[in-house]
Order: sequence, then structure tokens, then C-alpha cells
Amino acid sequence: MSRSHEGQIVVVTGAGRGIGRAIAERFGAAGAHVVVNDIDGNGAAETAATIEDAGGSAIPVVADISDATQVGEMFDAAIEAFGTVDVLVNNAGLIGPMRHILEADETWFRQIIEVNLIGTWLCCHRAANVMARKGSGVIINMSSGGATRAHRAFTAYDASKGGIEAMTRAMALDLGPYGVRVNALMPGSIDTENHDTEQRALRGVNIPLERIGEPIDMAGPALFLASTDADYITGEVIRVDGGMLAQQRSATVDIYSPSNFPAIEDLD
Ligand SMILES: NC(=O)c1ccc[n+]([C@@H]2O[C@H](COP(=O)([O-])OP(=O)(O)OC[C@H]3O[C@@H](n4cnc5c(N)ncnc54)[C@H](O)[C@@H]3O)[C@@H](O)[C@H]2O)c1
Repeated sequence: MSRSHEGQIVVVTGAGRGIGRAIAERFGAAGAHVVVNDIDGNGAAETAATIEDAGGSAIPVVADISDATQVGEMFDAAIEAFGTVDVLVNNAGLIGPMRHILEADETWFRQIIEVNLIGTWLCCHRAANVMARKGSGVIINMSSGGATRAHRAFTAYDASKGGIEAMTRAMALDLGPYGVRVNALMPGSIDTENHDTEQRALRGVNIPLERIGEPIDMAGPALFLASTDADYITGEVIRVDGGMLAQQRSATVDIYSPSNFPAIEDLD
């Protein structure tokens, strides 16, 4: 592939597996220096090693994005290794566990908001300070269909992703005059769980492009947003969902069936 991102310094959070790993590897193959973050040290090390083995440049950095001190240390490590940060891909997020509102508690709600919304803000805040001072930079946040179309049993997750989309627009306004673009990607149903053939078919059945997405499907759009081809795009959310949200009903709303709803007599 073309080394169109030669020399770009890119931080990808949650890049130890799944979508983050695919994006990090693709930036590595395109010539970027990649800071591979994850809370899981083994995953981060594996992704960084894969990039380096393929002739690219990467360092693993273990950090919990919901901890401001660790976020600060991650950016310090990136700057020490490569001099600055040009692109931040805020991919890390907690998808589960699912909880029906009647069975949920405050601890569960706060944990998902802490990682997905506050963690994303902490990374944006630190990156914005680096990027605004040099007059350029790109931030890419990770939304979900849940920002605009609800999943059952996902009150925390959907709220976090709605917040991420609103925050993306607000930051685009704050940072535009400083040369920093802020956008979001909205993945559809992406197979990061190694689903078996039957589950893959079930998840793909209502998608207009007739298949579940692969992590690599997210990489091209991320590289595009980080490129000069996207120089006039900010405050935008790009759907990468095989057409899922273009239709009235999507497959993912049916994953948590109403048959799982608690019976009132079973509640505490
Ligand atoms: N897979 C999908 O279908 C889908 C759909 C919509 C949105 N998304 C979003 O895309 C992003 C990636 O999804 P995925 O399916 O690849 O997820 P995943 O669960 O496969 O991977 C997430 C990675 O983030 C890391 N992580 C979790 N908490 C962290 C923290 N506090 N600090 C640092 N790293 C942390 C995990 O260790 C893991 O490696 C998430 O933000 C998710 O909400 C995914």
C-alpha cells in the first residue's frame, strides 16, 4: 500500500485488538509512527510488534484512558519517542456488559461513562493542547449507531456515544481556528468477537451490504480523515456501517431480545 502517511505521528487508543488494532496496523503500513495504546499490555505489545515486523514504526504504551495521570504519561511517552502528536484516534471503549435499566446500577453506568466519554475527553484535551500549539492536528473519535438509534439494555453505552458525537462537534468549533480538525467515525456491526459462521450470518442479514463489517473496514475511513484529502472536513460523523442506519430498522437492535427483560417479580 502507499506510504501516504509517511512520518505522521499517530496515537491509537484501545489498539491491542479489534478495530483499534486494524487502524494502528494500517497507519503503520502507510508510514506513520504509531503509538499503540491499550489497558491490556499484551495486546498493545502484539500490535506494536506486528507493525514493526512489517517494517513500520510503533511503540506500545499501556494506559487506562479514564485516568488523567496515565493519559498524561501516554502523551509524554509519545512526544519523547517521536517529538509530537499529529493524529489521535480515540478508539478505546467499553461495549458491555449489557444491563436492562431495571437491573442496572449506578456503578455500571459510571464505569462505562468514565471510559467511553470521560476517557475520550481526557485524550482529546491533552492532544488538543499539543496540536493547537503547533497549529495543526487531527482527532478522530469513535461513535456508534447507539448515538442516534438505541440498543436495548445499552443506556450507558448509548449515552456515552451520543456524548461523543456532541463533544466532537463542540471541539471542532473550539479547535478549528487553531488548525485542528475533529471528526468521528460511526462503526456499524463490526466483527471483533470472532463470531462463528451462524452469528456472522445473523448479524449480516439485515445490513444493506449483506455482511457484517470487519475491523479493516474502519481503517480506510480513519486514514482518509487523517489525510490532507479531508482538510475541509471537521465536526462530522462518518457512518461506516454497510448502510445499516440508512434503513428504518437495523439488526443490532434485536441482539438483546425483549425475552431477556426482567419479570417484575424477579426484581430485588
Ligand atoms: N465492534 C463494533 O461493532 C462497534 C460498533 C460501534 C462502535 N464500536 C466502537 O469502536 C471502538 C472499538 O470497538 P471494538 O469492537 O474494536 O472493541 P474491543 O472490545 O474489541 O477492543 C477495545 C479495546 O479497548 C481497550 N480498552 C478498554 N478499556 C480501555 C481503557 N480504559 N483504556 C485503554 N484501553 C482500553 C481494550 O483492552 C480493547 O483492546 C469502541 O469505542 C466501540 O464502542 C464498535
